[in-house]
Amino acid sequence: MKTRVKTSQETCSMFMFMFMFLFLFFSNGSGFAYSNEHELLLSTKASIIDPLSFLSNWNNSSSLCNWNGVTCDSNSTHVTEINLSGKNLSGRISESLFKILHVETIDLSNNQLTSGIPSNIFSCASLVHLNLSNNNLTGLIPKGSIPNLEKLDLSNNFLSGPIPEGIGYFLKLQYLDLGGNTLIGEIPKSLSNLTKLQFLTLASNQLIGEVPSELGFMESLKFIYLGYNNLSGGIPTEIGYLTSLNHLNLAFNNLTGEIPYSLGNLTELNYLFLYFNKLTGPIPKTIFNLKKLKSLDVSDNLLSGEIPELVSQFKDLEVLHLFSNQFTGNIPKSLSLLSHLQVLQLWSNKFIGEIPEGLGMYNNLTILDLSTNNLTGKIPETLCSSGRLRKLILFSNSIEGEIPKSLSLCRSLERVRLQNNKISGRLSPEFTQLPLVYFLDLSANNLSGEINRLRWNTPMLQMLSLSSNRFSGLLPDSFGSNKLENLDLSENEFSGHISTMFGKLPELMELKLSRNRISGIIPDELSSCKKLVSINFSNNHLMGGIPETLATLPVLGNLDLSMNQLSGEVPETLGNADSLVEVNISHNFFHGELPSTGVFTAINSSAVVGNNLCGGASRIHLPPCKVIKTANWWFFGIAVIVVTFAAIILVVLYVKRRKEVVHYKTTRIENEIDGGVEWELLFFDEKASKAMTIHEILQTLRGHKNVITTKYTKYFIKEFNGIKLDNDLIIKLKEFGKIQHPNISKLIAICKSEKGRLILVHEYVEGKKLNEVMGELSWESRGKIAIGIAKALRYLHSCCSPAGVLVGNVSPENVMVVDGKDGTCTSIKLSPPGMIFSDNITKCLVSSAYVAPETKETKEITESSDMYGFGLILIELLTGKTLVDAEIGLHENIVEWARYFYSDCHLEAWVDPLLKVHAQENPNQIVEIMYLALQCTAHDIAARPYASDVVKRLESITRSGTLCF
Ligand SMILES: *[C@@H]1O[C@H](CO)[C@@H](O)[C@H](O)[C@H]1NC(C)=O
Ligand SMILES: *[C@@H]1O[C@H](CO)[C@@H](O)[C@H](O)[C@H]1NC(C)=O
Ligand SMILES: *[C@@H]1O[C@H](CO)[C@@H](O)[C@H](O)[C@H]1NC(C)=O
Ligand SMILES: *[C@@H]1O[C@H](CO)[C@@H](O)[C@H](O)[C@H]1NC(C)=O
Repeated sequence: MKTRVKTSQETCSMFMFMFMFLFLFFSNGSGFAYSNEHELLLSTKASIIDPLSFLSNWNNSSSLCNWNGVTCDSNSTHVTEINLSGKNLSGRISESLFKILHVETIDLSNNQLTSGIPSNIFSCASLVHLNLSNNNLTGLIPKGSIPNLEKLDLSNNFLSGPIPEGIGYFLKLQYLDLGGNTLIGEIPKSLSNLTKLQFLTLASNQLIGEVPSELGFMESLKFIYLGYNNLSGGIPTEIGYLTSLNHLNLAFNNLTGEIPYSLGNLTELNYLFLYFNKLTGPIPKTIFNLKKLKSLDVSDNLLSGEIPELVSQFKDLEVLHLFSNQFTGNIPKSLSLLSHLQVLQLWSNKFIGEIPEGLGMYNNLTILDLSTNNLTGKIPETLCSSGRLRKLILFSNSIEGEIPKSLSLCRSLERVRLQNNKISGRLSPEFTQLPLVYFLDLSANNLSGEINRLRWNTPMLQMLSLSSNRFSGLLPDSFGSNKLENLDLSENEFSGHISTMFGKLPELMELKLSRNRISGIIPDELSSCKKLVSINFSNNHLMGGIPETLATLPVLGNLDLSMNQLSGEVPETLGNADSLVEVNISHNFFHGELPSTGVFTAINSSAVVGNNLCGGASRIHLPPCKVIKTANWWFFGIAVIVVTFAAIILVVLYVKRRKEVVHYKTTRIENEIDGGVEWELLFFDEKASKAMTIHEILQTLRGHKNVITTKYTKYFIKEFNGIKLDNDLIIKLKEFGKIQHPNISKLIAICKSEKGRLILVHEYVEGKKLNEVMGELSWESRGKIAIGIAKALRYLHSCCSPAGVLVGNVSPENVMVVDGKDGTCTSIKLSPPGMIFSDNITKCLVSSAYVAPETKETKEITESSDMYGFGLILIELLTGKTLVDAEIGLHENIVEWARYFYSDCHLEAWVDPLLKVHAQENPNQIVEIMYLALQCTAHDIAARPYASDVVKRLESITRSGTLCF
């Protein structure tokens, strides 16, 4: 190795000698060194690409000392400085450059020079300043040293490999910057020879190993920047010897252990940056001696303990970052005394107590972030005393009280995030007129009031979230900003319409209005918001259709319109919108054919259920569409309904007349007066008619009871309010009065007053509602209940008037289990149809979970909708799950869930654990009943069996079993 170096030196000298000889030979004697430099610079130029022609006057026709970027000594005999900084140069740095013998400064920084650093740079012994920073240089840092070099800046290149040990020979070096490269290996200990070094940056490399404790002996150091490497181990205590140190940055490493006490000796320190390491323990008390500290950032560590009131000693502190640690205790009150404090970020710790009163009063606060702690109490009035507060971030604490008036007047505010607290009260008018605010999140608080009464004038607003509060009143039509990108007003009590003014928000990307009471239509004008990516209007009372124009929104990805009262057909064009990735239109009144293109090819059935749709992709199992569609469908459909209805009425009238005579034989009508009001009572039971008077019935109701006890027996009584007592209704009720079936609770009497009150008296049933006892029932009981309900339905669907009687909501609530104890054979009583009152239908149907999807849309009950409810009860009886069971998880409802697991064939996965033994012995029975349940709950109403078939099937399935019927 040694010999080789020697050889190359000899070669070099020989070459130099020949070169000098040639020069002597050719030059005319006017200073050969000068001509030499001339040639060397031209040779340097030759390898450089110079798009700005900065080097254009580097030619033979002009004097070297006038060349751009070239400086000569006073005698113009030697080039002393070459400064080509920031001239957009690319290409290579030629070796020639470093052969210039007297040059002291070379600055090629801020160009795009590629290639490696020439290996001869260190032969240029005259150099004092070398700056090659901010280029695209690659390769290794050459070995060697320059004894006079004071400043070496190779930062921000693509240099690789280790830092050469020889760095320790640059004995005069004061400034060393190797940052922003891809250097590897450890920091050489020889570095500590550089006792003149004041400025050291090795930041943003891939250095490993420990911070050398020897650094502590480089007593001239003022600036240490070793951040953004992968250094590990502890912070050496010896750093505490560097009493001239002004700036210490060890951030973004993998440093562990505690912050050494000795750092408290660095009395000249202005900046201490230890953020993003794995430091533990408390901040040593000595640190608070650093009276000249302007910025302390120890964020993103594992530090703990309390922050003492000693912070008051940081008289010059401007920035305090303690965020993302595990600090506890109160926020020190004395922080409010630091008159230079501008930025205070303590978020993501475990601070408790109140925000210090008076914070902001004597400070210059511009940024305050205390979010994600356990702070309580109110927001101090003083935070914006400086009038400079730009960011106020207090989210995810337990802060209560109102937003202080002083903040509403804080016109410097730009970013306000107070979400997830317990803030209450109303927004003051000033708060909605902050001129600079661009981000305002007040979600998940207890705020209330009508915000449309406030004049919104927030011209910079880009993001506004008021979600999950109790704001009410009409939805505002403007927020005084046409810059809005995100608007979230969901989960409030807003009513009113979506204003067409929303179409004047050209930047709007996200619009969330879900879970309010918004009515009216979706305005066409929304299609002017060309940047909309996401729309969520779910859980409102919107009506009308989906505007076709929504499909023209170029980047709309998500559209959630679920749980509204939207109707009409789903626009075909929505299936052609390329950008859409997710659509939910479930639980509306859409009808007709679901498009099967675009987003609809991969849609889940859960996103379309609760409508009356047909067609669509096969995987979502909608019924196929009938051939008749398009505009004629409506006319045809209405015509059919009208004709059918007319026919039914004619038949009913006819039958009524025919049966009237018979009817009155079994019915007793009595007129009674109570408190001057005349009542008409229709009894369907002789005994009962003698047992009670209207007076007793009214007495019972006045005592808020619903069971009347007579001499013979007990009866249920119930008053129905808000019913239109017309003739049709009385006819229907009389029909019900005739119903006599062991599984149906008998209607005993109808009482109606001249003032329109209606009271029904029923057979009293001693027992419990099926939903209350379902979980405890044996297989025998469950089977018997299933057949019992089926028989009741069979009777109702075929009895009485030609159309039969429809129950409307076949639900466990309406099934009384008479002796639900195990061992005995259970029987049931179905409550008499409660849905006879057309006014009531809508209300009950919307609130009941047992209503068939098509009924939700049409509000019409049918035999098949009754069978749907029955199917749900069967599923519950088999699985032990209720309709809202958590385990149903991602499945839209219990039917989807059951269908999924049934198709999977794993009986154990869905059968009620209580039925396991029976299921193991009679798997076929259980599976067949589930199959029946799934048929009853089929989307395709035509596929649902009749009650009479169900009874037969259930009987034949269970005959082989052990049921006692
Ligand atoms: C040489 O430099 C002079 C300016 O000093 C310039 O006018 C001339 O065009 C240059 N010649 C060439 C060949 O670039
Ligand atoms: C220098 O590097 C930058 C950043 O990687 C790159 O954009 C630029 O094109 C490079 N220039 C040359 C001349 O290679
Ligand atoms: C950080 O240091 C710990 C031990 O000091 C080590 O286990 C871990 O691998 C280091 N992480 C990285 C990213 O170097
Ligand atoms: C902070 O509050 C959370 C939730 O309210 C609680 O779980 C936690 O224990 C509290 N921490 C402290 C340090 O009080």
